[in-house]
Amino acid sequence: MLDHAIPTVFFNGEYLPKPSVHLSPDDRGFLFGDGVYEVVRSYGGRFFALAEHLERLHRGLCELRIRGVDAAEFGDIARELLDRNGMATDDALVYIQVTRGAAPRRHAFPPEQTSPTTYATAMPFQPKGDPAVGVKVITLADTRWTRCDIKSVNLLPNCLANQRAQEAGAVEAVFVRDGAVLEATASSFLGVFDGTIRTAPKSNYILPSITRDVVLDLCREADIPVLEMPILEHELIAAEELFLAGTTLEVMPVVEVDGRPVGDGRPGPMHRRLYDLFRQRVNSG
Ligand SMILES: Cc1ncc(COP(=O)(O)O)c(C=O)c1O
Repeated sequence: MLDHAIPTVFFNGEYLPKPSVHLSPDDRGFLFGDGVYEVVRSYGGRFFALAEHLERLHRGLCELRIRGVDAAEFGDIARELLDRNGMATDDALVYIQVTRGAAPRRHAFPPEQTSPTTYATAMPFQPKGDPAVGVKVITLADTRWTRCDIKSVNLLPNCLANQRAQEAGAVEAVFVRDGAVLEATASSFLGVFDGTIRTAPKSNYILPSITRDVVLDLCREADIPVLEMPILEHELIAAEELFLAGTTLEVMPVVEVDGRPVGDGRPGPMHRRLYDLFRQRVNSG
C-alpha cells in the first residue's frame, strides 16, 4: 500500500481517485439497497477463490435481474486495483458492488436503458481475530429476509446484529431461526459434535459461503466426517468445538457463546487441523 496515497477506485468503467467518485442520490443502491456485492481476499497479491466469488456475483445479478454487467470482468479490475494502489504483493481485500443504477425513485425496475452502477475498491487486509486465541460470539434472533442466499447490499439486520456483538465484546453475532443456528452476520458457522463437522445446509436462509465450501471440501479430502444439518440452539452447550468461516475470518475458533465457554474455552484440535489444511490450500492456490 502506498503510504498516505489517495486510493484509486473503479467506478462505472473508469479508474478514479476515490474523492472524484460522485454517486447520484437517485442510485437505487442508496435508495433501496438494490444491489449485490462481493469481498475477495488476496494473499501476498494472489487472489483466493476469485472465480468462485465472481460466479456468486454473477448468480446474484441474475437473481436480482440486473443486466448489462459481466461479473467475470471484475477479475481483471481487482488485479488492476491492487497494482494501481501499490498492493500487488500485499494481503488485501477487494470490495466489489453493483447496483441497478440511478433512476427517479419508484419501487419497480427503472427503464431498460438504465446503466447499473459498478464500483470496486482495494484495501489492506486487517485481521479481525487471532486464530490461536479464538473469538467470542453472541446469538440473536434472525430478523433477515428469506433470500439470505443473495449477497445483497441490504445489510441492515446484519449491521444491527453486528453492533450488538461489538457492544457485548464479541466479534460476531450468530443468527438463530426456528431454533437453528444458521450463520453469523458476515461469516458461516460450523461445529464439531462427536468428531463430526456440522453446519447448516445451503438454503435460502444462508449465504452460499465460499469459505464454507472450501472447509467442507478439505474435510472430505481429509476423511473428516461432515453432516450438513443445522446446529440447534440447545445443542451449542454440547459442542466440542465451534468455528466461524469467511473470507475475512478464514477459519476462526469460537471460544465463547453468550458468555459461556465452548469446550475448555480454547481453540481445539479440529480447528488446528482445519486451519492448517486451509492455509495449505491458500498457499497451493
Ligand atoms: C451472511 C454471511 N454469511 C457467510 C459469509 C461468508 O462468506 P464467504 O466465505 O464467501 O466470505 C459472509 C461473508 O460476507 C456473509 O456475509
